[in-house]
Parts: sequence; structure tokens; C-alpha cells
Amino acid sequence: MRIGILSRKGTLYSTRRLREAAEERGHEVTIVDPLRCYMNIAAKRPRVVYRGEPLHVDAIIPRIGASITFYGCAVVRQFEMTGAYTCAESEAIARSRDKLHSMQLLSSEGVGVPITGFARSSRDTKGLIDMVGGTPLVIKLLESTQGTGVVLAQTRKAAESVIGAFRQLDANILVQEFIEEAGGADVRAFVVGGRVVASMVRQAAPDEFRSNLHRGGTATAVKLSRTERNTAIRAARKMGLTVAGVDLLRSNRGPLVMEVNASPGLEGIETTTGVDVAGEIIEYIESHAVEGDHPPAGRKTRKKTAAKTSRRKGTRRAAAEAGAGSVEADDEARDEEE
Ligand SMILES: Nc1ncnc2c1ncn2[C@@H]1O[C@H](COP(=O)(O)OP(=O)(O)OP(=O)(O)O)[C@@H](O)[C@H]1O
Ligand SMILES: [Mg+2]
Repeated sequence: MRIGILSRKGTLYSTRRLREAAEERGHEVTIVDPLRCYMNIAAKRPRVVYRGEPLHVDAIIPRIGASITFYGCAVVRQFEMTGAYTCAESEAIARSRDKLHSMQLLSSEGVGVPITGFARSSRDTKGLIDMVGGTPLVIKLLESTQGTGVVLAQTRKAAESVIGAFRQLDANILVQEFIEEAGGADVRAFVVGGRVVASMVRQAAPDEFRSNLHRGGTATAVKLSRTERNTAIRAARKMGLTVAGVDLLRSNRGPLVMEVNASPGLEGIETTTGVDVAGEIIEYIESHAVEGDHPPAGRKTRKKTAAKTSRRKGTRRAAAEAGAGSVEADDEARDEEE
């Protein structure tokens, strides 16, 4: 089968592992930089042109970083129109990037989420704080990653001033009840095709409530309860994601979904649990994608050449083609690992 991994950088852990897992199973892999794809969106026979050549694949694995969501989703959509199987549909990726919309969807499905408030006017700050049950509470910048825009306010005064400060910056924020009993830990459940294939708990450093590994958190493998597993599976399903990293907080009223990630990183989960998550993803694709058996004229030759070339050049070279070596691409690609 021909599999395209949509990633800006072949040397990223996840991209490398997915490639390995696919090649081990005899598939032909192309690392496709989504920003180098272009397309005629009005064509009767949709196709994707990659670096000037039409690219035909049976399946794609989108690893679309938050910073390129818009263009990346357009590329994924075009691949969908060519009939390629995708383990994350463009709609689902876009949906998961909107944290607020995600929360609304999950909550409407009866999936537990922390009580979360959202308001525009500073005149509503008091009401917003009351809505989530008063302090302590958590204030989150909607654009936050790696815990940078997440603040714990212990008192009403502190909450008011932080909310006020963010408002002045014209930032979108949400206010959330603080799940104190989670004890600075959260759970990452890795869902593939309606199954939790691996899970870990991340524990925050002492005197820190954010468990992000970038903030000194530590990860250990964990076995989830049936309720936790079901919650993660339902959350991924509601978001329309076949592959998802679901983050849960363990609260007194059961598991609460904090976030559902469409491009979950493999490094933390594989090294912590020892599970071959990349292999699970490839095997799921094998049982769901259909190998194209009527290639249009010329396609076979081109594909063969492409495969040979990439084998010859080796992973390193292919990675360089996918944007490695440039500091800019480095920074931009990092957000593929959610
Ligand atoms: N409501 C809450 N109650 C208790 N702890 C929380 C709450 N919200 C977040 N945390 C802790 O803070 C950490 C960071 O929060 P969150 O994941 O929402 O932001 P982020 O990591 O910056 O964003 P992203 O996950 O999109 O990169 C979480 O992993 C969790 O440990
Ligand atoms: Mg997080």
C-alpha cells in the first residue's frame, strides 16, 4: 500500500516511527510536507501535486501542526477527494483545534468535561467566576500550548486581575473549575480505531499543578479503569478522530476530558509504555484503507521511481527533503507533536 505521512519534518520522532512501522510491514512511504502540496480545487478528478509531481497514495496519516491547521486541512480534504483513506479527516482536525467547540461537543454528548466558562465582556467577570464555582480556578489562554498560558488563581482577587490582564491583551481565555483532587496529574489515553492502545499518567513536578513534560512533569504507564477507557473512546468518536490523544483529569465525579488531540505525539507514550503505537496505527490503516488497483497511466512508473529514490537516499536524506536542517522548519514542525 502507498502511505503518505503528512509531516513537515521526517526526523520528528512520530514521523520517523510511523515510517519505520509502515516500511516494516512492506508499505511504500512518502513523507509529504503539506505546505509543498498544491491542488486544483475545481478539477473534476481531484489530485494533489507535490513538489510539482502528482502524488497518488492509498492512505494518509496527517500530522498537522496547530500553526498550519488551515492549509493543512485543505490538503487533507483534497487527499480525501482523491479517495485516499485518512486516519484523521480534515473536518475532525479543524474541530479538535477549536478547544471551545470541542468542549461544547463533548459536553452535548454527555462526556464529562470540567465546568468551563467563556465570556467576552469584562463586565461579566464576576458572573464567570461564580459560574465555575468560585476560586481556586484555572484560567487558560485559548492559544496556549505546553502549559504556558495556563494559570491557577487561588483567590477571587487574583482571578479578577489575571482575567483583566488577559482581556487587555485582547486574548481569548476560558475559565475552568480547578480539579484539585487530580493532584497535579493527568492521564493521556491514546486511542486508535475505537480502542485505547496505550495510556500513561503524567505527574506535575512538586509545587506545580501543570503536568506538561516540558514543565518538569514525569510520565508512567497506567492501566485505565473501564470508565476512563470508555470516556476516552467516546471523546475520540465524538470528535470524529480515528487516532487521538485524549487528556483526562481524574476527578471526584469521574474522568473529565480536558482535550482531544488530533496529532498526538508518539515519543512520550511509546517510551513510557513500551507499546508499538506506530504499529497499531499502521495496522489499523491496513484493515481500513483500500489499495488502489487501477492506477492511471504513468502512475506506477512514477511511484516506483519515487520509492527507489527514497530508499536510496535513506531516511536522513528524505528527512532533509521534508524540511530538516532549517531552524525555521524545526520550530514550525514541533507543534505536530501534541
Ligand atoms: N481544570 C484543571 N484542573 C486541574 N489541573 C488542570 C486543569 N486544567 C489544566 N490542568 C493542568 O495543567 C496542564 C496544562 O493544561 P492544558 O493541557 O489545558 O494546557 P496546555 O498543555 O497549555 O495546552 P495543550 O494541551 O493544548 O498544549 C494540564 O496537563 C493539567 O495537568
Ligand atoms: Mg496539555
